[in-house]
Amino acid sequence: MSSSALFQPFRLRSLMLENRIMVSPMCQYSAVDGSMTDWHLAHLGMLANSGASLLCFEMTDVEPLGRITRGCSGLYSDENEAALRRIVAHCRSNGQAKLGLQLAHAGRKASTLPPWESGAPLPPEQGGWQPVAPSAIAMGEGELVPRALTPGEIRSLVARFADSTARAERVGFDALELHSAHGYLLHEFLSPLSNRRVDEYGGSLANRMRFPLEVVAAVRAAWPAHKPLGVRVSCTDWVEGGWDIAQTIVFARELKQLGCDWIDCSGGGLVKSQVIPVGPGYQVPFAERVRREADIATVAVGLITEARQAEAIVAEGKADMVALARGFLWNPRWAWHAALELGATPHMPPQYLRGRPAGKAVLTEKRQPAKA
Ligand SMILES: Cc1cc2nc3c(=O)[nH]c(=O)nc-3n(C[C@H](O)[C@H](O)[C@H](O)COP(=O)(O)O)c2cc1C
Repeated sequence: MSSSALFQPFRLRSLMLENRIMVSPMCQYSAVDGSMTDWHLAHLGMLANSGASLLCFEMTDVEPLGRITRGCSGLYSDENEAALRRIVAHCRSNGQAKLGLQLAHAGRKASTLPPWESGAPLPPEQGGWQPVAPSAIAMGEGELVPRALTPGEIRSLVARFADSTARAERVGFDALELHSAHGYLLHEFLSPLSNRRVDEYGGSLANRMRFPLEVVAAVRAAWPAHKPLGVRVSCTDWVEGGWDIAQTIVFARELKQLGCDWIDCSGGGLVKSQVIPVGPGYQVPFAERVRREADIATVAVGLITEARQAEAIVAEGKADMVALARGFLWNPRWAWHAALELGATPHMPPQYLRGRPAGKAVLTEKRQPAKA
């Protein structure tokens, strides 16, 4: 076995991961009525063969209103479920990664154009819809003003998350991650900057955590006990007076109590006034603190681009896993290259074996091509 920390296996409940590398969830804005398309088949099929042990499918929303764009993935209809089942079957029969799904609701960041068409807000009169949020506060100048959810609507959203979880189980995902980061609905409840409610869902930290924790409890109950559940959090709003790492640690301890298995430590995305000190591994210190102070597995993410950088994060106990997003778009075989650099052995599908440098690779055990 390799001495590389990055290439040690990792167990989450009954899920055995063969290394510490995750493909971070990445919206593709290419779904139709929430259903993934051939684009996803090609994109996720490729990333299932990237050498990462866990491929997390993109932010997938629990109701149509919760989509960022009309092209966002959803899991609220039988059609959505069937489309995902096709892609999961393809990844299973042609790739080696275990498969996770990120469940979400975009909250006040819903109803925009896709990034490559400016990402501008799309008001209802131009084909968009009215976003919802804890309070009727826009993300910033020029953004849509959301409608504040009623307590009854909050309760039915908890049920929506549980319904989508049951669908994810039927589709056969190995792991589930809840998106409570980047200024989307769950994060909006957590932060005092976006949550000004005066009922039991706003005010004190306990009240602001109430809805996200209710969602996690409902999802955990709908998700099999042998399968792991993670939560992605923004560890800070990067703004004075906002959500911060101290509150994140309290939240992470509560999440652990509810049966959450990992915290994916991201940051920001809530307000336009954020000031982020972007640089290599800039969010890693959050993963390290949450891991130490909440005693839970963490995923480090954000400008992790080099094999030795990733190796050091895991070897030094700063996180249990690393997640890469843009790095995998640029180099979908990132984990094969990292393995060679760190003295581990990449696992390659038989069809690609002739591309291996100096014979340094082994076959993935299965998935021999069908006889022609
Ligand atoms: C194209 C793209 C789409 C993304 N979509 C999501 C998403 O669906 N859910 C999420 O939590 N983060 C999303 N992110 C953020 C990434 O998962 C990741 O946290 C971020 O890009 C920082 O990691 P990196 O420096 O390795 O790219 C997206 C990033 C990119 C580049």
